[in-house]
Amino acid sequence: MLRKPKTITSNNRAPKTLKPQQARQLIRRFHVLQKNRKSLEQLLSEVKPGFDLETYLQSPEPAYTKQLKEYKYAKTPEIHHIDRKLLYAELIRTLAKVDAELQQRGGLHVYQMASTVGQKSERGGDSLKWLVTLYKRLGRTATRTLEIGSLSPTNAILTSGIFGEVTRIDLNSQHPQILQQDFMKRPLPLGKDEKFDLILCSLVLNFVPTPSGRGNMLRRMTEFLEPFQKEQKPSLFFVLPLPCVTNSRYFNKSLFANVMKSLGFEEIEYHEAKKVAYWLFDWHGRGKKIQYPSKSEVNPGKQRNNFYIDMN
Ligand SMILES: C[S@@+](CC[C@H](N)C(=O)[O-])C[C@H]1O[C@@H](n2cnc3c(N)ncnc32)[C@H](O)[C@@H]1O
Repeated sequence: MLRKPKTITSNNRAPKTLKPQQARQLIRRFHVLQKNRKSLEQLLSEVKPGFDLETYLQSPEPAYTKQLKEYKYAKTPEIHHIDRKLLYAELIRTLAKVDAELQQRGGLHVYQMASTVGQKSERGGDSLKWLVTLYKRLGRTATRTLEIGSLSPTNAILTSGIFGEVTRIDLNSQHPQILQQDFMKRPLPLGKDEKFDLILCSLVLNFVPTPSGRGNMLRRMTEFLEPFQKEQKPSLFFVLPLPCVTNSRYFNKSLFANVMKSLGFEEIEYHEAKKVAYWLFDWHGRGKKIQYPSKSEVNPGKQRNNFYIDMN
């Protein structure tokens, strides 16, 4: 169980404590709502060409504001049916419901709280400990490290001292040492000095709501790696929930291996914990040309998830 952290972004909707089971349910619900939001954004831009969600939310219509205020999410999570038949007004109302539930559940702050509980219960501690042990075994060090999706600067990485200068970013910073920034909007490096020799990306890609968004995020990471290292190639420490590669209808470890090869990554080490999968990749600077098969069912069955990374 985790006590509510006192942070600069402390949120009065956050529960005081969260049990692992509650944390897992919350994480799942946040992922569903994020996905709903992305589908709504897509449909809204089809129904109303030029629609941009960020701009819209700066001065939304009264219908959105009214629904946002009045909607109370139910105990049994509402299933939002989002399809092309919906009219603009219905899409806006559904968007307001999704946003209202996200807000009432405490937003990113509570999602991060739930993720911290997950760190403890599902990984037996900080996932970076695995990396620290591995780096020590391989005799590696890094000089400049970028952590995408950082919950706390007081983890194994800070105490190990082998990752050099660490830049931490997150969509919602919970600490002054974490820069509040969307990695997808982080300005591209202008030169060597703004690149990194290690990127840490733990349980972030599964937060991205669309398969193509995940592909874009992986591709973008290569822009931040410095390919010309004398002694050691730049690396990526990467973590996904295990079911993304073991229980997806459309995805598995071998498809993931192809995605990474196509981007120029070589797998150095792989490890499975109770519920998460860890990888260390080195980056060779250039990928292999791979013809991606179109998305198809690789694991039929009812109890599967739909995780996929689209590189097309
Ligand atoms: C499940 S938490 C994982 C945190 C931590 N890395 C771990 O392994 O426990 C995912 C974090 O990624 C952050 N995140 C998601 N997308 C992001 C993006 N595009 N840029 C920066 N941070 C992002 C979220 O705000 C959240 O704090």
